[in-house]
Amino acid sequence: MAYDISIVGASGYTGGELLRWALMHPEMEVKQLTSERFAGTPVTKLNPTLRGFTSANFVPVKELNTDIDALFLCLPHKISAGFVKQYLETGVKIIDLSADFRIHDKNTYAKYYQEHPHPELLPKAVYGIPELHREEIKKAQLVACAGCLATSIILGTAPLIKAGLIDNSNIIADSKIGSSASGAAFDLSTHHPERQGTVRSYKPSGHRHTAEIEQELSEIAGSKVSVGMTPHAVEMVRGILSTVHARLNTAGTKDLDLWKAYRSFYSKSPFVRLVKDKDTLYRYPEPKCVVGSNFADIGFEIDPERSRVIVMSTIDNLVKGSGGQAIQNFNLMFGLDEKMGLWQPGFHPL
Ligand SMILES: NC(=O)c1ccc[n+]([C@@H]2O[C@H](COP(=O)([O-])OP(=O)(O)OC[C@H]3O[C@@H](n4cnc5c(N)ncnc54)[C@H](OP(=O)(O)O)[C@@H]3O)[C@@H](O)[C@H]2O)c1
Repeated sequence: MAYDISIVGASGYTGGELLRWALMHPEMEVKQLTSERFAGTPVTKLNPTLRGFTSANFVPVKELNTDIDALFLCLPHKISAGFVKQYLETGVKIIDLSADFRIHDKNTYAKYYQEHPHPELLPKAVYGIPELHREEIKKAQLVACAGCLATSIILGTAPLIKAGLIDNSNIIADSKIGSSASGAAFDLSTHHPERQGTVRSYKPSGHRHTAEIEQELSEIAGSKVSVGMTPHAVEMVRGILSTVHARLNTAGTKDLDLWKAYRSFYSKSPFVRLVKDKDTLYRYPEPKCVVGSNFADIGFEIDPERSRVIVMSTIDNLVKGSGGQAIQNFNLMFGLDEKMGLWQPGFHPL
């Protein structure tokens, strides 16, 4: 039986990527795709890779029919919250890709974003990293997909925290991120002459994703975890590489201890691959190996003299960091195989 789905904000980058996967998903029937700016325009005019896969036109939100099974919201934060409020009452399952329902605490949300317009709905949302909340997601009506940077940092760090291997008070994450993370709307910072060739630090401290990273990692630790994160805009369209630095709790911690922690944490997680080769070109995770796929590649190295661990974690921001993660959550919410419609590798060479 196929499930009817619609995408609000389908003209954007996450909406377009989500649509690519949805059209190939064996249990999804795509009903409506919204855009205000492009209402009435064929989807393939904006997203030419989908020629031959859909003949749909964008529709405005006012024409949205909620007689469907699942609604994906690919909207800016602040805007998404109002849609969640409106459509949750119809009983439809909602998968929200914005930040509006990721943070459990309304004061923390207010600190990093703005006053929450519907704080009463925050307890209804499950944080949408399946590798952390698989069982809750299966029962949820509202899933808040994680931020893309947050996904890469959390997936790389969570197993070490769970196993008590690192000092939770001083974790540093340095991320490199591609331009599609800023969305399809024009912004001077993503304008080609400004962006091309750049390696730009744009939020050295206080990045919004810090809130959800600390929330999720603290939940695993059972006490406050402190993460300093610094993202850099680099010369890529898709992809994130996060390098996480932490102090080991015990001198003499071996590779084997870390392997055990990762293998046990991800034993039921098909989309996490552990990468630590001795002699290939691709010894450590790198974005080129995951772009176009829903995989998160994670690797590490111990610095024994300084009792530190360095973790490398990479994803495609538009797949595992948003559209693919949303489909993985949909699969769980509808009792389907978590891998359904998503099980494919990236490109090589790229
Ligand atoms: N890009 C990423 O890598 C990434 C990763 C994870 C999460 N996210 C989050 O996902 C969400 C979408 O991001 P994006 O990169 O896809 O953004 P985007 O490319 O800018 O797309 C935004 C979409 O929202 C629609 N929209 C904007 N305001 C609207 C309104 N008032 N009413 C109805 N529709 C409206 C736009 O439609 P029009 O055609 O009418 O303008 C467009 O389809 C954001 O919350 C973002 O933070 C993004």
